[in-house]
Amino acid sequence: MPTPQFSDFVSIRDFSKDQIISILRRAAQMVPYASGEKRTDAMRGRILGTLFYEPSTRTRLSFESAMLRLGGSVTGFSTPAGTSVEKGETLSDTVRMTEAYTDALVIRHPLEGAARLAADISSKPVINAGDGAGQHPTQTILDLFTIQEAKGRIEGLNIVLVGDLRFGRTVHSLAEALSLFGANITLIAPPSLQMPRDVIAQIESNGVKPKTSASLEEAVADADILYVTRIQKERFADAAEYAKLSGSYRIDTKLLAHARSTLSVMHPLPRVNEIAPEVDRTEHSLYFKQAANGVPVRMAILSMILGAEI
Ligand code: NCD
Repeated sequence: MPTPQFSDFVSIRDFSKDQIISILRRAAQMVPYASGEKRTDAMRGRILGTLFYEPSTRTRLSFESAMLRLGGSVTGFSTPAGTSVEKGETLSDTVRMTEAYTDALVIRHPLEGAARLAADISSKPVINAGDGAGQHPTQTILDLFTIQEAKGRIEGLNIVLVGDLRFGRTVHSLAEALSLFGANITLIAPPSLQMPRDVIAQIESNGVKPKTSASLEEAVADADILYVTRIQKERFADAAEYAKLSGSYRIDTKLLAHARSTLSVMHPLPRVNEIAPEVDRTEHSLYFKQAANGVPVRMAILSMILGAEI
């Protein structure tokens, strides 16, 4: 059995640019296996545990699909309802038990730091599938993979991140990774939903000074990528505050008339009302391809974390 190339996948900060590049390379090799065109049994007899304390469609299903395409099996829960969590079991006890039933754990939890706690407790690899308003590092790898595939590079691209930059975990890990690759970053968010200071500090320590803009029209004009996020309703203590901010941005063909013909629109999905359905039919839309890339990217991460040769 080849040696695992890393032991957990909790934060993008734990990875160097070279490590990320090697995951992206492995993901490219996984594409024909992800589509079923080629077959592998590399992970036969290995079991992935999926602990989802928060809703998920793409992340959970693409992890499951990735493990199955590698010839492995999956067990787990998609909601804590019906598990011992309802009886008051702690996260650490659930992790202690489920690691005994599996070879690796994927965890999504509403609390920031939950995946780190799980990784500290578990002797098996733990993958963070989203920890509250913290990070979503495997989404970041698939975002980078999608950008690289569409544009042939990441360095020097003008990338605009718009929406809920405060609570949106995908943009936290993505912005940090983009700065490692030397992309130009522009941030657009309502005043109360700005990018957290620690993320900005990390971006700057990687040598990138992010710009902020109040005008989507202006920022879109010379952008290569427009990365749109949902206002994270579940993180608001005050429903009225959410209602006030929920319609802050809408990407439609009228706005995209200001853009380069080569601008790509990305979104981790689910979208609510941030991207008009009419955009789906334009050359700009990259978000469904982006979501599909979850399978090869997660195959790469699983095979590298479990030390499987393909
Ligand atoms: C995101 C998440 O859960 O952070 N979804 C995803 O995993 N693709 C984005 C979101 O919920 O807005």
